[in-house]
Amino acid sequence: MAKRKPQAAQRMWGGRFSRPPAQAAEEFSRSLHFDSRLAPFDIAGSLGHARALRRAGVLSAGELAALEVGLAKLARLVVSGKADFATGEEDVHSWVENRLRELVGEPADKLHTGRSRNDQVALDARLWLRAEIEATLGRIRALNGALLDLAGRHATQLFPGHTHFQPAQPVLLAHHLLAYVEMLLRDAGRFRGALARTAVLTTGSGALAGTSIPLDRRAMARELELPAVSANSLDAVSDRDFVAEFVFCAALTMTHLSRFAEELIIWSHPALGWAEIGDEYCTGSSLMPQKKNPDMAELVRGKTGRVTGHLVGLLTLLKGLPLAYNRDLQEDKEALFDAADTLRGSLEVMTGVVGSLSFRPERLEAAAAAGFSAATDLAEYLALAGVPFRQAHHVVGRIVRHCIEGGKDLPDLTLEELRGFSPKFGPDALRILTAKASVSRKRGPGSTAPAEVRKALREARARNR
Ligand code: ARG
Repeated sequence: MAKRKPQAAQRMWGGRFSRPPAQAAEEFSRSLHFDSRLAPFDIAGSLGHARALRRAGVLSAGELAALEVGLAKLARLVVSGKADFATGEEDVHSWVENRLRELVGEPADKLHTGRSRNDQVALDARLWLRAEIEATLGRIRALNGALLDLAGRHATQLFPGHTHFQPAQPVLLAHHLLAYVEMLLRDAGRFRGALARTAVLTTGSGALAGTSIPLDRRAMARELELPAVSANSLDAVSDRDFVAEFVFCAALTMTHLSRFAEELIIWSHPALGWAEIGDEYCTGSSLMPQKKNPDMAELVRGKTGRVTGHLVGLLTLLKGLPLAYNRDLQEDKEALFDAADTLRGSLEVMTGVVGSLSFRPERLEAAAAAGFSAATDLAEYLALAGVPFRQAHHVVGRIVRHCIEGGKDLPDLTLEELRGFSPKFGPDALRILTAKASVSRKRGPGSTAPAEVRKALREARARNR
């Protein structure tokens, strides 16, 4: 296709103007360089619209057939990656219409009957986003699959549970990993909710008021496999809730990935040496030959700010807009695309990172046992023996102080020492002083008890299908 300078004839408008737009105005308002991503969906929507126009009696059977052939050709061209978008049009809608005119001639001039770019761009974005959400759900499933495999491989491994990033109570590593699986399962649920509100037909709304052309909107929706038809034309052309909602879901998912990334960075520090990310997901230093840096995790953490920024940008974009369509809305797409691209990259790279992770069991074991991590179990032992918990807490606090002063750990204590603090301690108290015992004493669903974690692992696998 020859490079063309934009001509008035190529624009969708211009009859009422005596002068063409200034170059600066044209460049400032052009969106083709980013909305060309919508081309396959603009073509699909146009096909549905052409069929509705035939049913409305606007197109003859021959005109529809010509448009169908032309749109199919155009779709193949776009899918092949050979389409030339450096053709000077204002936006993707003009690009599709102009290419179609080159292919089929006059019937292309009838295609825009009863349609505005306002309802058209809303439909295009919704169709694009539907596909993107479906792909996102697959990517979350893959990451969860990798986390579940990792948890399954370390089903009995002890891990130091933290609060305030201070040693708190031992947990199973699988339990810790399953916490992220839960976050991601909720994220997937949010994306599914967003999908239902995205898959809505907006065409038939015209520029804002609907159209006098009798378009069968239900039939158009069926054709595009959209379960819903928008209920208000003003809302349909100006609603970008679905964009903001997707970007919120993306920002929250990124936030979850970022928390995990932060933990991976901490775990990789040689002073802890709890985990190691595979070489294929780390980078070196140009200066320090010994370095192995967790850059992928750092980038995921960093890119989270970018997606959150898009969410704030979108909400700010929308907050002052009077009904109905305003050109401001064109600013939604770069944010949407970048949020989606960033999320896709982050999910994919984190899936690889998780698959490459290895742990150092002896380090984890030692860390899980350190810091008197079974102290709470000792207090709960007394509570189960009838000691009010507040008193039991105090007794065990004194035991910990005794250990610190004597340079001992809890498993070093004798029954006599324990009974010196409370007569309620029996011989079985000696068996609960280790990290392993602490974990296995937990009760109830949702806890880190080994049997519960095994069950949670099984159930999470089923919920991730
Ligand atoms: N590029 C525009 C957008 O993204 C398409 C709709 C333009 N409508 C208009 N009346 N200028 O919102």
